[in-house]
Amino acid sequence: MANLIFFIALLVLLLPISAALLDAWLTDANATFYGDMYGGGTMQGACGYGDLYKQGYGLETTALSTALFNNGYACGACFEIVCRNIPGWNYCKKGSIVVTATNFCPPNYGGGTGHWCNPPYKHFDLSMKMFTTIAEYRAGIVPIYYRRVPCHKQSGVKFELKGNPYWFMVLVYNVGNAGDVYGVRIKGSNTGWLTMSKNWGQNWDIRGNLVGQRLSFLVTTSDGKTLELEDVAPSNWQFGQSYEGKYNF
Ligand SMILES: *[C@@H]1O[C@H](CO)[C@@H](O)[C@H](O)[C@H]1NC(C)=O
Repeated sequence: MANLIFFIALLVLLLPISAALLDAWLTDANATFYGDMYGGGTMQGACGYGDLYKQGYGLETTALSTALFNNGYACGACFEIVCRNIPGWNYCKKGSIVVTATNFCPPNYGGGTGHWCNPPYKHFDLSMKMFTTIAEYRAGIVPIYYRRVPCHKQSGVKFELKGNPYWFMVLVYNVGNAGDVYGVRIKGSNTGWLTMSKNWGQNWDIRGNLVGQRLSFLVTTSDGKTLELEDVAPSNWQFGQSYEGKYNF
């Protein structure tokens, strides 16, 4: 009897957990594609990344609708996506894809078709390469299931330094695990830790002159984890150059 009660208690405890895991995978949305098979049209974008090949994201990318973009904080997050067949409709291919959020799919309040990125729709505008990996090209738009997954990155977190002697900006990219950066602090060899502001996408800025100083960074991701990366850039760092931290999340 005691065993039975224990068993039921265990079941009651475990049920919501498994339901939550299932929910995570069964979140539904729709997907379309933009750009061409070679990534034309998907480079650059609202996250502030540049040449996605050079930066390691390649064609495994997506733009997010307003409901998912979170004002650019979602930039760098990774999602696994499967196509969802509906009865009488066979446009799905087998298997899933993993993509990184690198762009924004803007709402369209005008006439005609293509309102799928309007709030409150959860929508993924995939690179053509990724879309045609999970669905037939001719489908155009497909229902999907998605879930957040950890981002797997080679090498350390990378920083592209921008701005001028009065105003400093850094693009944070190649971020592993959660992938989406929520906070950045910087330390020059002559300063303490300074909090940077999100400018746009994953570009973070601060006023002041950091020329000629070694630069260290504290990066915080959406899961609350903070990584300290010391002396990422040497004192002779240059605007427009990228530097790599020793570690990743
Ligand atoms: C997907 O698109 C269909 C058809 O336009 C729409 O009814 C549905 O609400 C969309 N799903 C989501 C999650 O936005």
